[in-house]
Amino acid sequence: MKNLVPFNDTSRLFKAHQNELLSVMQDAASSGWWLLGKHTETFARNFAEYCGTEFCLPVANGTDALEIALKAVFGDALYTEENEVITVANAGGYTTSACYLSGASPVFADINEESQLIDLASIKRCLSNKVKAIVLTHLYGGVVDVLQVRELLNTSGYENVVIIEDCAQAHGAKLGERLVGSLGDLATFSFYPTKNLGAMGDGGALTTSDPAIYQQIKRLHQYGWANKYDVATPFARNSRIDEIQAGVLNILLPHLDKANATRIAIYEQYKQSAGSSVKFLIHTTDFVGHLAIMRVEQREKFIAFMKDRRVAIDIHYPILDCDQKAWQKLSKRQDPEGLKVSNRVVNELVTLPCFPYMTETEIEIVSNALREWEKSFNE
Ligand SMILES: Cc1ncc(COP(=O)(O)O)c(C=O)c1O
Repeated sequence: MKNLVPFNDTSRLFKAHQNELLSVMQDAASSGWWLLGKHTETFARNFAEYCGTEFCLPVANGTDALEIALKAVFGDALYTEENEVITVANAGGYTTSACYLSGASPVFADINEESQLIDLASIKRCLSNKVKAIVLTHLYGGVVDVLQVRELLNTSGYENVVIIEDCAQAHGAKLGERLVGSLGDLATFSFYPTKNLGAMGDGGALTTSDPAIYQQIKRLHQYGWANKYDVATPFARNSRIDEIQAGVLNILLPHLDKANATRIAIYEQYKQSAGSSVKFLIHTTDFVGHLAIMRVEQREKFIAFMKDRRVAIDIHYPILDCDQKAWQKLSKRQDPEGLKVSNRVVNELVTLPCFPYMTETEIEIVSNALREWEKSFNE
């Protein structure tokens, strides 16, 4: 039977902006200039301005963006010496994948129980002289305190470690007055359709204010060219966004802040409807509600309960990176004290539907289900 509440429905996003979207797609298509044209240039300018950075480089997707960012950090030492990257094991595998694609070993730090974001004390235990970069994933729409991490690296004698923010789930989130994407040395974004800012296909970007990094990532995203057919940087790839997607993003960017506010309001309503039998995330920094994550001890029972009420749910993410089969034989390290929180919490996570075009009725169906769950729990 069809769900009463879908997990997401991007067709509603399309319908809400249909005229503008069709018009920009028509413009890009009829121009005959489908890559590296005016829409991509405009989006790069608009998004850099939005994030508060000097530069933005649009690419094909968020995983390419991470791989390109890491390759820019390693430079000529790529594949030639052991490079380590601190990351977390609970963020869906994208950074780990990029590590292996660029010949680096991931080092898994543990997470903070309440926010599910990287834990600073664990970062400290993971540091070594092989660590060249740390990827700070602003997971689920929460914001890692990048400035505190920078301070920790500087005061521990690791000031050369490059900070990459993974903002794929946090477009528009802030730390104080500054937006994510502008807080580290460079940052990556995904514009996968269900992201806070999503395209109608794949897309990604890197942002930075460092001209040397920008020059390097620009070469790395297009065959290593300094100029056409002149390969100046090895190990490069081709990763470009297309003009139609860039045009779509130009249309949707002005609506991002309002869409984020709607996501946050939905998450707050769920929080208020639920009782103490489930736990929602607690943030000490900003949060833009990318995913409505909660923790529940009796997860299987909860999933069946939601299924009965025809509410679609998902799990982000069911398997920690360190436990993925394909990566078992590849090199990796973890916090010497273990991934206690990551391991404990992975079997409790559930994601509820949360997207800007949910109807009041749908939000109420989920909220009611949460109230009922609490009641049944206390009976
Ligand atoms: C945190 C995070 N990083 C990276 C990615 C990779 O982005 P993409 O799917 O565009 O390759 C995603 C998206 O799915 C993500 O959620």
